[in-house]
Amino acid sequence: MQAMTDALGGAVLPAPQREYGSAVVRPENERVMFRGLPDSFKVWASHGDLVATAPPGFSITATSKNAPVAAMEHADRGLYGLLFHPEVVHTEHGSDILENFAREICGCVGDWTMTSFVQETVEHIQEQVGESRVLCALSGGVDSTVVALLLHRAIGDRLTCIFVDNGVLRADEAAEVRQRFSEKLGLPVAFADASQLFLERLKGVTDPEEKRMIIGKAFIEVFETKAGELGPFKFLAQGTLYPDVIESVSVVGPSVPIKSHHNVGGLPIEMQFSLIEPVRQLFKDEVRQVGIELGVDEAFVWRQPFPGPGLAVRILGEVTPDRLRLLREADAIVTKEIREAGWYRKVWQSFPVLLPIRSVGVMGDERTYEYTVAIRVVQSLDGMTADWVPLPAELLSRMSSRIVNEVKGINRVVYDITSKPPSTIEWE
Ligand code: XMP
Repeated sequence: MQAMTDALGGAVLPAPQREYGSAVVRPENERVMFRGLPDSFKVWASHGDLVATAPPGFSITATSKNAPVAAMEHADRGLYGLLFHPEVVHTEHGSDILENFAREICGCVGDWTMTSFVQETVEHIQEQVGESRVLCALSGGVDSTVVALLLHRAIGDRLTCIFVDNGVLRADEAAEVRQRFSEKLGLPVAFADASQLFLERLKGVTDPEEKRMIIGKAFIEVFETKAGELGPFKFLAQGTLYPDVIESVSVVGPSVPIKSHHNVGGLPIEMQFSLIEPVRQLFKDEVRQVGIELGVDEAFVWRQPFPGPGLAVRILGEVTPDRLRLLREADAIVTKEIREAGWYRKVWQSFPVLLPIRSVGVMGDERTYEYTVAIRVVQSLDGMTADWVPLPAELLSRMSSRIVNEVKGINRVVYDITSKPPSTIEWE
């Protein structure tokens, strides 16, 4: 909308107050774009500039307190703009707006469903792969599982799945993954325990981007070694999602890379495989729908996202076996308490982060000087934006006392109350 304004003779100015988070818009709901919607509703905004004057010929179709032009259109020329994010869950009626736009203005019919996505993707994989064999990297999460199932449907036993224990997994994770794939999904998986290699490489490293690059590179090395043993493979399949793509590379402009997600930015250039990324265009909620479509059980589909670089990006500072133990123990407590209180599926993610600072405490008659854990619980639709969740005080208090009492080495727990933006979800 700002680019259109600038190009067509309107005025874009820095906003006196950056608008981040919730805003209330008042749309002209007789317009097609807002047809059937209330006179005002909450939307998610994230901008530092605003449209002060719409370009000549445009009508202003919505306003908000901080944005004199929150939406505009030139219906005769087929030009429409919104200054807020209709695609995020925090925007009320966001999908109605997009539906009005797609159906009424663009004339789409809405026949792109997850069933059709599965069919098209399976055919596309068959075409792309031909008679070759594919190695699929499993992270244990929903995305790569869905990718493996799509590939299995497309090419059967020409697919080989591999799971790498990178040493920065959560407690019991490797065993759970093994059990799920062999018993529930009936997909054969090759396991590689590379934890020593990863931990060795991460020794002494404190920079977040360096950690991500090291992990991405080590992953590929392990794959290449395993591929040599099990292969030959022409393709490597990954569960890259659209937000990973957007945040790692500038898709359509000079947006700054925020974090190199290991499965995009950290890949070595001279990799010996061609990549297959069948869910690269999907958001998380869409991948979950595809999972259900493919018969994955609900409990698993609703597993919270977990970053590829694992606990390494939740341990600020150096990743050491001791710090891993602290975070694993705290993580098990947070997850158990969140589940038991019925919050696990209601939130996008809930996890602890280990901070590299120590502070003074007192336990019994003893002075302690130990680490701090920050608990991060956020609500989000796709990981692109997020709100911190005001959990009930008793739940926070239970997590805090359990962590401090049960995890030897932690004497303080804090709660992260920042949204994304301006923060990110993971701390590194
Ligand atoms: P941030 O921290 O960028 O995270 O706000 C957004 C979402 O992405 C997840 N995340 C990752 N997922 N590889 C992944 O597969 C990664 O390197 C990675 N880094 C962050 C994060 O958990 C959150 O859900």
